[in-house]
Amino acid sequence: MAISSAPGKVYLFGEHAVVYGEPAVPCAIERRARVEVSRREDGKLSVHSDDLTLDGFTVEYGVSPDERPDIDVSESLVTAAMGYVDGAIEQVRDVTGNDDVGFDVTIDSDIPLGAGLGSSAAVVVAAIDAATRELGTTLSTEELADRAYRTEHEVQDGQASRADTFCSATGGAVRVEGEDCRSIEAPDLPIVIGFDGGAGDTGQLVAGVRNLREEYDFAADTVAAIGDVVRNGEEALSAGDLEEIGRLMNFNHGLLSALGVSSRSLDTMVWAARDAGAMGAKLTGAGGGGCIVALDPTPETETALSFTPGCEDAFRAALTEEGVKRI
Ligand code: PMV
Repeated sequence: MAISSAPGKVYLFGEHAVVYGEPAVPCAIERRARVEVSRREDGKLSVHSDDLTLDGFTVEYGVSPDERPDIDVSESLVTAAMGYVDGAIEQVRDVTGNDDVGFDVTIDSDIPLGAGLGSSAAVVVAAIDAATRELGTTLSTEELADRAYRTEHEVQDGQASRADTFCSATGGAVRVEGEDCRSIEAPDLPIVIGFDGGAGDTGQLVAGVRNLREEYDFAADTVAAIGDVVRNGEEALSAGDLEEIGRLMNFNHGLLSALGVSSRSLDTMVWAARDAGAMGAKLTGAGGGGCIVALDPTPETETALSFTPGCEDAFRAALTEEGVKRI
């Protein structure tokens, strides 16, 4: 048996614009997906989780292509989790040359699903790491990040940047621009997260921005402006200037709103955080619903969010320098 965990992330700056080659800065947070893997002799894959739905689920199927179910990952959170694990195990079979190996996989995650906190990337990174180790292979962090990216790319029909998977594998703050991913310095940020209990459809939201950008010059300019915010954000991060980081997060949220990817609940939480004295607040990830990230060293924002209509959960999330963890 092998167990690995991997962290979720918030986008400090740059989601959506990163799809068009602008830089983005995601940053790993101490909320993890933990994946336990045991090799099976019968070649089947069994995926189990108690906490991805209220009832939990177990799915078991064989390894041959005609035995594998056609998984639509957009159908439900359960099928999404299954689809990502299935894709991760395909990468494990490929990288280890064990084409017909089977596994029992158990997922345990405290990252809200599909809500902009990189839950799928964390599950994929932890699953690939644990399953390869179960077969006696330990991947380098780069190879692990690359295999996890390939999984997301495949499962999401070609719509994935390297940001989430690289950040989850390495931990810390990361700068992503196209194929180029690297770790950057970031101060200890007082991160507060508000979660509306929902999830956005990443594929649809990315397609919406793409259409807008093709139709209107102002939308293309907005994407480029997000790139400028990110570059300023990088300077503020390396200077440890929290006030400026917060200010730029506010600009970033406004630009994402202009691109149509915010929602009433995300805007409400962003304004509740600002009214409570947060240094800055923005949506994180694809948008449409899910989470916001705010900066506040005091308890005020977390308290205000917990009383905000439409906010289902508010919590503090420390930055983590630790990416994949071998348990
Ligand atoms: O919601 P998430 O965590 O999957 O982030 C999506 C980020 C986008 O920039 C919108 C898409 C991408 O693949 O970079």
